[in-house]
Amino acid sequence: MTAEMASLVYTPIGVIRSEHHEPEKTPIQPVYARGCSGRAEILPQYAEGLKDLDGFSHLLLLYHFHRAGKPLLTVVPFTDDQPRGLFSTRSPRRPNPIGLSLVRLLRIEGATLHLSDVDILDGTPLLDIKPYIPRFERVDDASAGWTATVDEETARQRGRRGYGE
Ligand SMILES: C[S@@+](CC[C@H](N)C(=O)[O-])C[C@H]1O[C@@H](n2cnc3c(N)ncnc32)[C@H](O)[C@@H]1O
Repeated sequence: MTAEMASLVYTPIGVIRSEHHEPEKTPIQPVYARGCSGRAEILPQYAEGLKDLDGFSHLLLLYHFHRAGKPLLTVVPFTDDQPRGLFSTRSPRRPNPIGLSLVRLLRIEGATLHLSDVDILDGTPLLDIKPYIPRFERVDDASAGWTATVDEETARQRGRRGYGE
């Protein structure tokens, strides 16, 4: 096995606290989690790295889906009824169960980030934080694959999982 294929070990930089305790009642993306508050509690040894983050309205959080089931290479997405290839979905049940959420940063108090639009379960180990930078990430001509076949209202209703209704 080559070095690239060997297993990797990451250590969490903190923990995500949220109002979500049950996976099946948690919105499936930040866009469907408007107003769902949460916090990222960063370990003291990483607090220095939070400097200059306060000017950003949105953050990309990378985290470990610590309550995901075993991986599945074909899944039925939450917003669809058709089986889809895992890597065309955002299912938590992945070989490397890494989550990615674009959340709103409300304020920073010490080593705690106060957040909104959180689609993440309480107690989730946080792996990394990156600022959302429109100049780098915004794409105006993106194609949405199979998700374009699901109408907005169906996606919103299924995506919110009861929130805001
Ligand atoms: C479809 S995933 C999308 C998460 C993220 N925005 C992404 O794209 O990677 C969102 C669902 O993951 C589940 N979830 C959230 N945090 C989790 C965790 N720590 N372990 C397992 N499942 C989790 C919840 O059921 C939530 O509805």
